[in-house]
Amino acid sequence: MCDNNLPIGVFDSGFGGLTVAREIFRNLPNEKIIYYGDTARVPYGNKSQDTVIRYSKQISRFLISKGVKAIVIACNTASALALDAVQASCSIPVIGVVKPGADAAVRASASGRIGIIGTSGTIASGLYDRYIKELLPSAQVFGKACPLFVHLVEEGMIDDSVTVEMIHRYLDGMISRDNIDTLILGCTHYPLLRSVIAREIGGVYADFTDNASDSSPCSRSGHPITLVNPAYTTAKALAGLLNEKGLASDIPVSPHDHEFFCSDGPDNFRSFASEVLNMQIDRVHLKVLE
Ligand code: DGL
Repeated sequence: MCDNNLPIGVFDSGFGGLTVAREIFRNLPNEKIIYYGDTARVPYGNKSQDTVIRYSKQISRFLISKGVKAIVIACNTASALALDAVQASCSIPVIGVVKPGADAAVRASASGRIGIIGTSGTIASGLYDRYIKELLPSAQVFGKACPLFVHLVEEGMIDDSVTVEMIHRYLDGMISRDNIDTLILGCTHYPLLRSVIAREIGGVYADFTDNASDSSPCSRSGHPITLVNPAYTTAKALAGLLNEKGLASDIPVSPHDHEFFCSDGPDNFRSFASEVLNMQIDRVHLKVLE
């Protein structure tokens, strides 16, 4: 098979990276993916950098053994803590979600006051800040770890009074005190909360697609907050990378061509994935990595 028609490896600590897979399907309809969700070892957000690097390298080796032509680290935490190490250990192109997310935020922000929410690991890494300031040195970046959002999403508590309460506890200060005009949803799970976050803080969902109308136009502080979903710009960055390397496929794929692996609970994974991707996933393979 010629390299162009090989699949793309996509991995995350669990289900959340399916929000990135969804954008790849929407934007690159000719690309087949092999997805690995490390559901046995999720969350990565509170683990040490050494551990996240070890897990990420194991998964990358597995994806390479399946013959992928490139790897997308769909997990923000793994992108923040392990991208360099994975790139150094692989001979195929590897991209993460942090740089494309930072790039989108700089494009979206008028004032340069940018909020970033993510796991404790992502926020502590400071990588979003670094990329943003490389692109816009005058930017002011306000980070906030929002660890409970991951659990609320995994419990299906999307539009729930507890979730609404946590949105205000985590984000009100960023809006009233820090006066941000742009908020990066810097964790794979957060795009699943985007409509509720947009409604509660008043935001426009600017992922540079046509679906900006699924949120309200103005924040409670009187100016709109642009919500940035790094998943979309990651799909765009992947398209650019494949073109640049001459690796883009020109043969349309069917939903059944994609393959899904996880390290625990394949049945749960299958139903969650079918819902997030809005397609019937027939089979999820169990693959434990040591
Ligand atoms: N996938 C992780 C991320 O985007 C969130 C879940 C976790 O902590 O592993 O940072």
